[in-house]
This record gives sequence, C-alpha cells and structure tokens, in this order.
Amino acid sequence: MLKVEENELITRVGPGTPMGNFMREYWVPALLSSEVATPDSDPARIMLLGEQLIAFRDTNGKVGLIQNNCPHRGASLFFGRNEEAGLRCVYHGWKFDVEGNCIDMPNEPAESDFKQKVKAVAYPTHERGGVVWAYLGPRTTPPPLPDLEGNMQPESGQFVRATQLPCNWLQILEGDIDTTHVGFLHYGGLKAEDQIQGSFSEYQLRQKQAHFEVIDTEGGAAYGARRPGPDGQAYWRIAQWCFPFYTFTPPGVLGTKKGGGARVPMDDTHTMTFTMTGGGRNRPTRPQPGNPFFLQPMQPNTTDWFGRFRPVQQPDNDYLIDREAQRGKTGFNGYTGITGVGMQDAAMTTGMGSIYDRSQEHLGTTDAMVIRVRRRLIAAVQAHMQHGITPPGVDDPEIYRVRSGGVFLPADADWVEATRELRQAFVEHPELDPALNGPL
Ligand code: FES
Ligand SMILES: [Fe+2]
Repeated sequence: MLKVEENELITRVGPGTPMGNFMREYWVPALLSSEVATPDSDPARIMLLGEQLIAFRDTNGKVGLIQNNCPHRGASLFFGRNEEAGLRCVYHGWKFDVEGNCIDMPNEPAESDFKQKVKAVAYPTHERGGVVWAYLGPRTTPPPLPDLEGNMQPESGQFVRATQLPCNWLQILEGDIDTTHVGFLHYGGLKAEDQIQGSFSEYQLRQKQAHFEVIDTEGGAAYGARRPGPDGQAYWRIAQWCFPFYTFTPPGVLGTKKGGGARVPMDDTHTMTFTMTGGGRNRPTRPQPGNPFFLQPMQPNTTDWFGRFRPVQQPDNDYLIDREAQRGKTGFNGYTGITGVGMQDAAMTTGMGSIYDRSQEHLGTTDAMVIRVRRRLIAAVQAHMQHGITPPGVDDPEIYRVRSGGVFLPADADWVEATRELRQAFVEHPELDPALNGPL
C-alpha cells in the first residue's frame, strides 16, 4: 500500500514532475526503427513521457525527434515535408534539421538572421537493435546506452516488438514482477500431470504458492521464488527489475534466456512496451496459436498519437473474453477465457483503471518484490529531486547485464550465490538445454 502522495510521485511522468525528471536522465526507447523505415519517409506522431513529438528519418538516414508545434506559430510538424535533410513546416515553409536548427526561413527577407535565433526542441536519438532511443534529459552529452543484451544481438532488430496498453506504466511493470499470478491467471486451467515430466512447467503447477526472497541488485532488484523440484531439489524461478522500467521475466531456463522488456510511459495513462529478446534460444517454443505465448493480433497502426501498436483485444471489447471457455476451465485460456498470456495480463492491469490508487490495496507476502521496487523508486526519485543524485544505472551501463529464468538447485543451496554467473548476460552456456523449461 502507498500513500496517495507516494502513488502520485512515482506514477506521473510529464515534464517537470519528479518521476518525469528522473526518467529523463535515462535514454528511453521511443519508437521502432521500422516506424520511420527509410530516408525521407513519412513523419510519425510519437507521444513520449507526456510530450507530443514528431519522428522523422532525414535524407541522411538520421532519425529526428522534434517538438510537434512549429516554433513559428505552432502548426503541427506532422504535416511537414520531409525533404533534403530536414522537416519543412508546410504553413510558412520554415525548415528544421534533426537537431532542431532552423535551416531555412523562406518567408522572411533573405538578409534576415532571424533563423539563427530560432531553435526547435529536438532530442538526441540513437538506433540500436531496431529501437530508436531518445534522450530527453538535461545533459549536453547524453550518458551511455544501457547494456541490454536483448537489444544488442545480431537478430535484435528482427525480433523487437512494441505493444501499447491504455494505463499507467507502473501497474503494468508490477505485473511482470509478481510471479504467483502465473499459476492462476495464465495457467489456472492446466494440470501438472499434463506437462512434460521433469520440466519447470510441471513443478510450477505442482505447487502454486512459493517461498519468496527478494534482494537488491546493482541495477534494481531480483527475486527468487522457491518450490519443490525433482529428486529433493528446489525449483527456483528468478526474475529481475532494473531502473527505471526494465523487467526480465522468468519463463525460460536461467542462463539461456536473453533479453527483457521496457515499460515506457507514453503519458500517465498510456504505456508502450518494447520487448527486446534478440531471438535465438530465448524461448523453447516459438509463439503460435494454441501456445500461451501466442502473439496477439494487432490493429493496423494509425497516425494518431495513440494509434500505434494496439492489440485487437482491448478494454472496450473486454479483451474478447469467452465466458464459455472460462466455465470450461481447461487449456491455456481456460481460467480467464481470454486468449494469450499478454492479453490476460493486460486485462488485469488496465482493468485497475488508468492510474490505480495504491492506497486501497492489501499486500501479502508474495508481493515482496512489488513492495521493494516501489520503495527503491520512491527513494531514488526523492534523492534525485531533493539532492540531485544521479539515478541508478544512468552512468553504469553494465548493471543492465542481467538474465532471468528458472533453475533446479540442491535443496540447501543459497540461490543468490549459486546463480551468480547464470544471472550474468553476455555469457554463453551451451551445456544448458532451454527445453527444460517446458512450454509454459
Ligand atoms: S507555423 Fe510553421 S512555418 Fe509558420
Ligand atoms: Fe502475467
């Protein structure tokens, strides 16, 4: 439970808010490279941290992210002409480069130097692994990008995905670090005896409650959830969170699974998730119909501020819930009647309302990770706000080199010590078999 003021402090991200200022110290994933696919392609409306921005790829291939309102008299640069290394406002022809410099002002006398005095807000961008990153912060020279394994693989650009949900970023993120909902929301219609024997899928269904341990890490926090495993061993399900909005969720075998997701606020009530897995041996089974990780069908993108990457299943169609399937209580979707793990999560997190009032909740022992993450966010935002302390990770890209997943350990092993190397990204473990996870 949070006080109303604490809830406000860590959920609001607009310009000038404490959390908004905090997040602006980091590079943030802003859009997919494919949204501005080729030089001089169509500009795109991008809502990011409550700011209306226009993305465009200039003639030289560089991506600009510029304020929506033209600095002259405010026409939307979305309608601009993307031509000859700049975006030209079509109202009176002023033209801006990717850095926001006004490079042409054809409606003013040729001898005027007015254009030297005009500058649009434009943020530095950097492309990596199919993602256009943006830096909206105060530094003249931005910090380094985080060392995110899932964004740095040869195939990262091919596997990156974006998904928009209409609610606050924090309640979506909290769903990622709450392991016990999985046995109900996602797998409540499944039986342990129907799973591949000896796999993690079997053992996470044999006992739904788990013994839960949370630790602070350099980049944020991690949890281990212990259940009985085979031959007297323990089955540990391990997941991580890194400042400010990165999660590394646990399906998969620890040591083989690369990547995670970023829950990036578009504004206070809309969130774009960037899933950066890098492909490879990330998951033992490929997403396909009938598989819980089936990728939900998407609506065609529109050019609206909130028209990008919207699933067909939405709050206004009740996520296409099938009550008959829910009554049947069998199979991947049998507990909820909602198709797909991602949409089952979405129904829960958006159904709380746009920004859930956490003063109303009742937290139990398995909410330990949620509690830890909130406490660390509150402390770090306050330290930044009151003393200007640089947020964790901003200048330390290596703290993002983490992995999550499941592992069988001897019953008396200390999971933190025993998994230290397996939790390190950029290390190959060919001896490990991703199939040990099972399909869940
Ligand atoms: S409003 Fe853009 S050039 Fe006048
Ligand atoms: Fe979930």
